[in-house]
Amino acid sequence: MCGIVGILGKHQVAPLMVEALKRLEYRGYDSAGIATLDDGTLDRRRATGKLINLSDLLVTEPLAGLSGIGHTRWATHGKPTQANAHPHQAGRVAVVHNGIIENFSTLRAELEAGGATFQTETDTEVVVHLCDSHLRAGKTPLEAARLTLARLHGAFALVFLFAGQDDLLIAARRGSPLAIGYGEGEAFVGSDALALAPLTNRIAYLEEGDHAVVTRNVITVYDETDAEVERKIETTDLDHLLVDKGRYKHFMAKEIHEQPAVLADALARYTDPSTGRIDMETGLDVSRFDRVVLVACGTAHYACHVAKYWFEDLLRLPVEIEVASEFRYREPPLNERTLGIFVSQSGETADTLAALRYVRAQGGMIVSMVNVDSSTIARESDLALPILAGPEIGVASTKAFACQLLTLAAFAISTASRRGTITGDREAELVRALRTLPELVTRALDLEPTIADLSREVAKATDVLFLGRGTMYPIALEGALKLKEISYIHAEGYASGELKHGPIALVDEFVPVVVLAPSGNLHDKSMSNMEEVMARDGKVLLVTDSDGAKAATGEPWAALELPDCAPIVAPILYAIPMQLLSYHCALQKGTDVDQPRNLAKSVTVE
Ligand code: F6R
Repeated sequence: MCGIVGILGKHQVAPLMVEALKRLEYRGYDSAGIATLDDGTLDRRRATGKLINLSDLLVTEPLAGLSGIGHTRWATHGKPTQANAHPHQAGRVAVVHNGIIENFSTLRAELEAGGATFQTETDTEVVVHLCDSHLRAGKTPLEAARLTLARLHGAFALVFLFAGQDDLLIAARRGSPLAIGYGEGEAFVGSDALALAPLTNRIAYLEEGDHAVVTRNVITVYDETDAEVERKIETTDLDHLLVDKGRYKHFMAKEIHEQPAVLADALARYTDPSTGRIDMETGLDVSRFDRVVLVACGTAHYACHVAKYWFEDLLRLPVEIEVASEFRYREPPLNERTLGIFVSQSGETADTLAALRYVRAQGGMIVSMVNVDSSTIARESDLALPILAGPEIGVASTKAFACQLLTLAAFAISTASRRGTITGDREAELVRALRTLPELVTRALDLEPTIADLSREVAKATDVLFLGRGTMYPIALEGALKLKEISYIHAEGYASGELKHGPIALVDEFVPVVVLAPSGNLHDKSMSNMEEVMARDGKVLLVTDSDGAKAATGEPWAALELPDCAPIVAPILYAIPMQLLSYHCALQKGTDVDQPRNLAKSVTVE
């Protein structure tokens, strides 16, 4: 959700900033801009649309300077126009901003009454006018920034650049992440370590309420009381952070195909084949909780939805799943016997973080499953379990979903074993099943050419339904979400049994209906639901295994046969054709697969 970068360099910064913004473009891509200081004078270039437009503009209208700030935007207040693109400037200060200034309208009215003229529709512009008013009143840049920050409500990260101050950036974090990069006679600020990866591998993360005075040789961090504080400098693994598309056309395709490898990594970390046990030393008092609440947003929420089935089955405890944005405002009664599990790829999702803080305030125990180990959600948890998917750049989540599911499964098995609700033999059986995943997923990926063919037909539809029972129900929801997100085809996921309670009215010969039905105890019921669809001319795409295909009734329009698998791995396996189907439909429709319209990867605003 908006990417920001700041550089105090030894060389011309404009090209470095464009490179850094490229690595942040997954966060927002409706406009971009940079500001630099050339001989102490502030100048800006901004362009709507993708970063390439800013790069092109910089060819015709270059920007010189060794100090600068840059931004890639995901619009919250104001349309994605050039005027609304960051950096914003008033007088001697320019600012880039991620997040929302909630009290901007009050501040704007106050500033306008004092004579300020606003050029944009953004909430951010109040920051530069406020800061400029303090500079004009004779305050130093640090004083002006602090007085400005003190007036702002909301969740944000900000970087200030001042005319005449070639060796100064002021960075502030309240609610949105910000990393400081240490170089040799150079200094950097970025929304995440990924942006700074080629520039430095020495990173410190600002904590909540911190602000930093950044110069090339000295970086001083202050907490919310303005007291000087130390923040640990970590050495990041650059190879891990430097990501490209490799031989693939899109990050999403690459990430779909990485799933066997990342699942193997996660299995190596969380399972021990020699003992047949889960290897997850959690240090949790598993007898303490009597209720589990799983909270997340979007795809991560669907991972929690699958996990509900596993947790109830293995732990025999009441389990609730919650959409974070609803949960946090409902104020549900919880206590110290509640285990809160928070699942988030980015570890920065604003609603999930707020929900975590709510559970903490009620005395609950906090376990998180995140992909970004240094994220706020990880840092605020009693136990943070890395999902080990590696950087996920495509906006539509794929490999992170698989790894979230694997981590949730491993946690459920290990906790059940320690609570005594499953035997050692059952644990070993489940671990054996999980360890088949890389091989099974590789075989599922082999279906890609068939799925690409089917997508030619599916992509013509204006509506697609996805049906599933048991753990296939959340996979149906996830399949529909993936299709909507990247191909813009309207899609809905339903529990198969729910179809006749309303959605069946949508079915006709133009509506593809994807039926997820592995063999097993729910297969017969799923076949009845499939028959109901076919009786109304619905175009069924059956996704099943060999036994499921043999036992299928009627004549679906098409069938995909996945390898046989144990029930615990089925949701991970059956998500693969859903990802491939949405990917190939998006290719058919010619949409922007990695950066679909209106979406951003890390949703740090409510
Ligand atoms: C969908 C997708 C989103 C995210 C959601 C939560 O493909 O990526 O629905 O799953 O925004 O994000 P995280 O996992 O970062 O909290």
